[in-house]
Amino acid sequence: MTELAAADRAPVPLPGPVWRYAREGRIRPGSDEHKQLFCRMLLDTFDPYKPAIIPWPSLAPDVLARLTGLPFWDIAVETELHTSKNMQAIADATSDPLIREAIALNAFEERRHKVVLENMIRFYGIEIDPDESFTPPPDPVWKYLCTGYGECFDSFFSFGLFQIAKDSGYFPPELIDVFEPVIQEEARHILFFVNWAVYTQAQRNMFMRPAFGAQRFAALATRAWKRMKFAKGGVGPKAGEGSEKGKNNSAMTIEGRNFVTGGEPLTIKSFMKLCLAENDRRMARYDARLLRPLAMPRLMKAAMPFLRFAG
Ligand SMILES: [Fe+2]
Ligand SMILES: [Fe+2]
Repeated sequence: MTELAAADRAPVPLPGPVWRYAREGRIRPGSDEHKQLFCRMLLDTFDPYKPAIIPWPSLAPDVLARLTGLPFWDIAVETELHTSKNMQAIADATSDPLIREAIALNAFEERRHKVVLENMIRFYGIEIDPDESFTPPPDPVWKYLCTGYGECFDSFFSFGLFQIAKDSGYFPPELIDVFEPVIQEEARHILFFVNWAVYTQAQRNMFMRPAFGAQRFAALATRAWKRMKFAKGGVGPKAGEGSEKGKNNSAMTIEGRNFVTGGEPLTIKSFMKLCLAENDRRMARYDARLLRPLAMPRLMKAAMPFLRFAG
């Protein structure tokens, strides 16, 4: 029996005073009600779009050149592939039928993201050379923690970048519309993940909970460190866990001054504000009783006073 399967069978503990959650109108993390809520959130908000019938818009030559010139399409395809396989690995290692069904849906959606990208790449004649090799993770729980926190970081920034691409007209609305469900799916994935992490920790017996909490912190810290190295221009994230095959990622840097947000030229601070606003907007549509991804919003809010020096 896997570690997770054992945890699924453990009696539901009381991670905090019940009266506190009742008074605040919240659900108790680790309760069956909590599990039902975060699993049903993912399962009931499934968008049944089909990549095969997406109407790819024809693009003006300059827009097409912009799209084909982006240097990360092979990394994007690799990332979706590895994420889907890591998600399937944790689904297969989960004994609780409802949680397994929800994580398997998450894995399906990641595979579908890969198909969307591949279809787009084929339609617009983008050349890629993705590394599709994959080694099954020896510890699916640890891998899911790493993948989940990686998605929390990446989604936070992609929410802002997507809105910039939309507002600036950098890409036509028809192309933006194709990717809107993909971006919203990432919001659902990270919302599901943070609730799964808290639920799974609460399901451990009181002696094992600190160890799982330490694992969560370690996964969060390693993902943060990899993203910081990526942002500084070092070795970037590998597919599925955040590295980038030694590519020079300076080509991926966005020339912020070419964009505006809220009528102002884009700065680091205005970009962070946009990411926070988009994060809130995308999360607002889900049940308020669910826990929210807080690591990135808290980090950015803490950094905000210092960002005025960064422009
Ligand atoms: Fe994805
Ligand atoms: Fe995802």
